[in-house]
Amino acid sequence: TRMAVNKVMISGAPASGKGTQCEMLSVNYDLTHISAGDLLRAEVSTGSANGLKAKEFMDAGKLVPNEIVVTMIKDRLAQPDAAAGWLLDGYPRSKDQADALEEANIRPEVFLLLEVPESILVERVVGRRLDPETGKIYHLKYALPESEEVEARLIQRSDDTEEKVVPRLETHNKNVAAILDSYSDILVRIDGDQHKDKVYQDIQKALESLSVSA
Ligand code: AP5
Repeated sequence: TRMAVNKVMISGAPASGKGTQCEMLSVNYDLTHISAGDLLRAEVSTGSANGLKAKEFMDAGKLVPNEIVVTMIKDRLAQPDAAAGWLLDGYPRSKDQADALEEANIRPEVFLLLEVPESILVERVVGRRLDPETGKIYHLKYALPESEEVEARLIQRSDDTEEKVVPRLETHNKNVAAILDSYSDILVRIDGDQHKDKVYQDIQKALESLSVSA
């Protein structure tokens, strides 16, 4: 079903569940999922100069410099498949990035913030696994693979360690307030510390109430 809301931003701490929710949202609402982290990991895997530089910052849990990220996202949003609607995941992550979008006249109808206590995030990070063939997100305890075949090919992200999540959380905590400031009029806080299906229901409710009032 098409709805009035078709430009959505989703934000939250590392492992708060952005990617998991986007998997469901992009299918059910026919929105193009644009993940800053996924685009960066794709760039890293090409071995390009930008990719090599990005990897240094990602491994350190820091924001990749704007000279790489800002153009990457703007170009992606300009692709034809994003014209009908998009779901921007993990971007903007700083005031400068939010300002760059404003300057380009790119503004969402809603800004979703997934809220999860820090004590829970570490376990989510450490147990996360990815299927390199489908890109699907799993967890050793909370989202088990559906077959042994999938289980056998699961991989772990290099920044998903107990050690590396510390600077990632610091970076998030340092920047989040400034971004919320830019979108305070359209901010919807979602309790991300619930079963993923319940989180999804809450997001759906929020989006649907916006469509009705739009
Ligand atoms: P990015 O890839 O965006 O990483 P992140 O923000 O740390 O977020 P994650 O992908 O770790 O988590 P998620 O919220 O998607 O959670 P998921 O659904 O997987 O960024 C990586 C790096 O790239 C950054 O550190 C930075 O260096 C760089 N970067 C990215 N954007 C940038 C930008 N704008 N500017 C500059 N640099 C940038 O869930 C996590 C786990 O929990 C999974 O195993 C999942 O199965 C499980 N789970 C999910 N929901 C639930 C639930 N409700 N209950 C139980 N388990 C759950």
